[in-house]
Amino acid sequence: MMKLILQTIRISFFSLAIINLTAQEANPADWRTIEMLAEEHPYIVALLDREKVYSCTGTIINQRTVLTSGSCVKRDPNFVAVGAAAIENILKTNMLLKIAFKRLHKDYALEVNIDSDQIITQMYNNIGLIYTVKPHLELFVYSAVIGNYSASELMKSRLLAVGYGKIKEHLVALQKQIYHQIPCKNPKWHYCVCGSEYTTGSKTYLQNFGEGGPILLDSLVVGIATFPCGSLAHRNLNDVYNIFTVIGPYLHWFDEPYSEPSLKFVSQEINTSFQRRVGVECFFLCLIVSKAIC
Ligand SMILES: *[C@@H]1O[C@H](CO)[C@@H](O)[C@H](O)[C@H]1NC(C)=O
Ligand SMILES: *[C@@H]1O[C@H](CO)[C@@H](O)[C@H](O)[C@H]1NC(C)=O
Repeated sequence: MMKLILQTIRISFFSLAIINLTAQEANPADWRTIEMLAEEHPYIVALLDREKVYSCTGTIINQRTVLTSGSCVKRDPNFVAVGAAAIENILKTNMLLKIAFKRLHKDYALEVNIDSDQIITQMYNNIGLIYTVKPHLELFVYSAVIGNYSASELMKSRLLAVGYGKIKEHLVALQKQIYHQIPCKNPKWHYCVCGSEYTTGSKTYLQNFGEGGPILLDSLVVGIATFPCGSLAHRNLNDVYNIFTVIGPYLHWFDEPYSEPSLKFVSQEINTSFQRRVGVECFFLCLIVSKAIC
C-alpha cells in the first residue's frame, strides 16, 4: 500500500520535473537534473567504502541484492546508500545499509595494461552481486526491471548509462550519458557490448561517473558499466566509449544457490554488539543535498 502511494507521488512529481527541464537546457550539475535522475532511477545505489566514501554505483535487483561489476566487488565496499541523489562527505541519504557479503563470478578476470593501445587487454565475467545484512532495499524504492538480452540482440541499440560521478570536490551526484552501440575492438572482452557517446553539443556529465552502474535500454537494465563513463577514448580523443557487460547471460547465475558466510562476518567484525549495530546502521536522514549544491 505504502509503495503504491509513493509511486503515485513519484509519478506526479515526475511530470512536473519533465516540464521544468524541457523549458531550459539541462545542466548536469543543476539540482533539478540530478534529482530527476534520482526520481527516474530509484533503484540506483551508491556503494561506499569503510569510511563511507563513494566507491562505485550499483543496481537494486531485489530486496537484498545489488548488482554491480566484478571490479567494484573487488574493491570491497561496506555500505549501500539508497535514495541518494548526491553524496557529500557527510552523507546525506535516505538510507544506509551495511553489506553482509559479496559474490564475484568464479571466472572473473580483468587485465589492464596502460601501455597497450587498448588498455583493457582482457575481460571475462566482470560481474558481481552484493548482499545487504537486512532485506530492506525495497522498503522505499522498487527494484530495477531486468531485460534478458544477449550482446547480439543489443546491436545498434541506444543505451543509457546512469550513475554517480564527482561534480564538485567531495560531492558526487547522479549523472547520465546516452551511447550508441558500436562493435567492441577486442575479442577478449566477453559478453560485452561497447558504446560510443552520442555527442549532442551540451555535456551531460561533468567528470567520470557510473562505474558498475546500470546500462538501460528504454526502462530495462540490460548491462553494467565496466569502467567509469568518460574514462576511455579511442585515439581520436573525441570518440569517448565504454564497455558494458551484458547481464542476460548471467541471469541464471544470479539465482544459483550460494552459501552465505552467515556468522563469519559477525564474529569477525561486530560480534557481541551485532544486533544493536545493525539497527543503528539503518538510519534515516533528510534529503537536504540541494543546500550543498546551491
Ligand atoms: C534469457 O533468454 C534466453 C534466450 O532467449 C533463454 O535461454 C534464457 O532462459 C533466458 N533467461 C531467463 C532467466 O529467463
Ligand atoms: C565473539 O563472541 C564470542 C562469545 O560471545 C567469543 O567467544 C568470541 O571470542 C568473540 N569473537 C571475537 C572475534 O571477538
